[in-house]
Amino acid sequence: MWLAARERGKLPVIYAKGGHTLSAEPTFDTTTAPPIMMTTIAALSRRDARITIGPVLPDDMGTLYLWFNDVDAAKLDFPYVPVDGIAFKAWVEKQARSDGEYLFAIRTLHELPLIGYGLIRNVHPIHRSAEIGIRIGREADRGKGYGTSALRLMTDYVFDTLNLNRLSLSVRTDNPRAIAAYERAGFITEGVLRQANYLNGAFVDMTIMSVLKSEWRPCTCQTAAVQGGH
Ligand SMILES: CC(C)(COP(=O)(O)OP(=O)(O)OC[C@H]1O[C@@H](n2cnc3c(N)ncnc32)[C@H](O)[C@@H]1OP(=O)(O)O)[C@@H](O)C(=O)NCCC(=O)NCCS
Repeated sequence: MWLAARERGKLPVIYAKGGHTLSAEPTFDTTTAPPIMMTTIAALSRRDARITIGPVLPDDMGTLYLWFNDVDAAKLDFPYVPVDGIAFKAWVEKQARSDGEYLFAIRTLHELPLIGYGLIRNVHPIHRSAEIGIRIGREADRGKGYGTSALRLMTDYVFDTLNLNRLSLSVRTDNPRAIAAYERAGFITEGVLRQANYLNGAFVDMTIMSVLKSEWRPCTCQTAAVQGGH
């Protein structure tokens, strides 16, 4: 299969709860040095004091693929669908060629392998609007402020580079951690769509949030070289 052929011997070592291989909540062996390309790309990318957002690299593909198949995270986000390697490859290729979607890899500055990803999508050329989605891949990396930082950096990109006027998202109303991160990143609640999504066996309310260019306060991004690489 494409992934196996491309990444054989390079896939992150996967451990799982209970010692089984392949889990909905994989952990990754970060003891090996990051590939030189990760170090270089992080040095070139937008960042704040702790994280960087930049392109997804070939060495990230195994990790990204596992997150796309994380059943537990899907319960918080979208109806779970098993994503096979061929469909994943097709999505990556389509996304890379798309003018209306921007996929960012999220990395910490001290540990360059991927910790999450963000996607800006549905860019509308007339309304100057877009939607954003974000995932921090491992539970161990959540709740540490990385999501808020990545949201702020991506929002900067939406307003200062794509020249859009409105950025919005939808989130389960019963996901307080995500809502807190979005609020801290500058998003304001617009309203609630009642029982709008069917997720994990129940109809759930979805909260719509947005930020406008006129109310956005840019963060202090840096673009100079990362000191020490990692
Ligand atoms: C949603 C997500 C991207 C947020 O990123 P993150 O790095 O975990 O978020 P942050 O650490 O930046 O911020 C989390 C905030 O929630 C708060 N928080 C954490 N757990 C909480 C809880 N159980 N209830 C309420 N607030 C909580 C934190 O205190 C923090 O707020 P603060 O900075 O004002 O103190 C990430 O948690 C994630 O990917 N989760 C799994 C998938 C998911 O929920 N997706 C949502 C799709 S819409």
